[in-house]
Amino acid sequence: MSVSMASSTSFASLVFMLLIIGCTAIPVYPIHRHVQHGSRKPLQTFRPYNIAHRGSNGELPEETAPAYLRAIEEGADFIETDILSSKDGVLICFHDVTLDDTTDVANHQEFANRKRTYEVQGENVTGFFTVDFTLKELKSLRVKQRYNFRDQQYNGKFQIITFEEYISIALEAPRVVGIYPEIKNPILINQHVKWADGKLFEDKFVETLKKYGYKGSYLSKDWLKQPAFIQSFAPTSLVYTSNQTDLPKILLIDDITIPTQDTNQSYWEITSDSYFEYIKDYVVGIGPWKETVVTVVNNYLQTPSDLVKRAHAHNLQVHTYTYRNENKFLCFNFNQDPYQEYDYWVKKIGVDGLFTDFTGSLHKYQEWTSSNRHNESDDKTASRLLHKIASLVTSY
Ligand SMILES: *[C@@H]1O[C@H](CO)[C@@H](O)[C@H](O)[C@H]1NC(C)=O
Ligand SMILES: *[C@@H]1O[C@H](CO)[C@@H](O)[C@H](O)[C@H]1NC(C)=O
Ligand SMILES: *[C@@H]1O[C@H](CO)[C@@H](O)[C@H](O)[C@H]1NC(C)=O
Ligand SMILES: *[C@@H]1O[C@H](CO)[C@@H](O)[C@H](O)[C@H]1NC(C)=O
Repeated sequence: MSVSMASSTSFASLVFMLLIIGCTAIPVYPIHRHVQHGSRKPLQTFRPYNIAHRGSNGELPEETAPAYLRAIEEGADFIETDILSSKDGVLICFHDVTLDDTTDVANHQEFANRKRTYEVQGENVTGFFTVDFTLKELKSLRVKQRYNFRDQQYNGKFQIITFEEYISIALEAPRVVGIYPEIKNPILINQHVKWADGKLFEDKFVETLKKYGYKGSYLSKDWLKQPAFIQSFAPTSLVYTSNQTDLPKILLIDDITIPTQDTNQSYWEITSDSYFEYIKDYVVGIGPWKETVVTVVNNYLQTPSDLVKRAHAHNLQVHTYTYRNENKFLCFNFNQDPYQEYDYWVKKIGVDGLFTDFTGSLHKYQEWTSSNRHNESDDKTASRLLHKIASLVTSY
């Protein structure tokens, strides 16, 4: 297995440990921290954030420890995850409310009678729900690749990880790597999982962040030490947690046809100027699906909307999702070249962060294109030179 050749010894031993965990049924958690802080390379803040969507899930099964380790190795600024809960109230990293599409649950006869139908965001969904499995049971499953056109060789090798294990991966990284957890499906989770003392899913979510020292407003000293964005499609969860932590929050925005799961507001309501004026007291930015910023017809980009401009006018950052290298996800405008897609979104649209399935590609794009941007002296020299050449050419 060729997962990670890390530079720091402790990181390498963590990698090894996680691989062992991934390959055996022994749940060894939580993972303990033993990294000296202070000497690590800081988070870059001069260019748009490289947000590793579910880890490097273009290469490895999503939201597993190896997917996150790979993303860190490839240059992620933030590793991104979705937080759900087990039946016994342990917060886990998992995207879908059901286990069906990305685990081997169907092969586990002992769970055959766990299939349920629940209403999720106004639709009846049938499957094996995480909220019907204890953590121990979830740990007995193995994760698999979501898309059949991606590498299948890691299917069945890695476990679901907990929120705490995910945090440990970020804290153990050889440089400062931020976390970007989502309060996922809070309505469903609070309906099905009950915690002691009437605590809500959101309370447990913030408690976990606090337990590991995550605090501070955007770009504060505390934040830069352990950067984190809290994201959710549910505005009430963000407003609620704003009372508990001043960590920066991002309001995710879905397709224009999908109302918010908690307040049942339309896309148009939550992207209006008056709503931005309201929500900017609680969030530092929005996370829209990229096709709501630039619609796509017959696989060609249309004229960009004014969403990014208006968000910026309200001092809100914009982190768009999701960037994927494969041909089937690239618009024809980009000549099937993911670097051209990044160039368009970074230079022309001007987003502040990008959720990508291929962190390595975004990182290489940024390394190759942004060195001039942060060395103004180089910029000036280059433009003087170009000017000189131009004047020489035109004089003939
Ligand atoms: C879901 O199924 C239940 C039970 O069959 C039904 O009463 C309900 O109307 C359904 N909800 C939706 C949104 O289809
Ligand atoms: C935040 O806390 C204040 C004071 O305890 C309370 O009055 C307010 O309702 C809370 N807001 C939310 C959104 O929970
Ligand atoms: C949500 O809003 C839509 C449009 O206003 C409305 O038709 C629908 O009944 C609402 N749903 C709920 C659950 O309130
Ligand atoms: C920027 O470029 C100039 C000229 O090439 C060089 O002298 C300077 O050290 C560079 N600064 C940084 C911060 O890399």
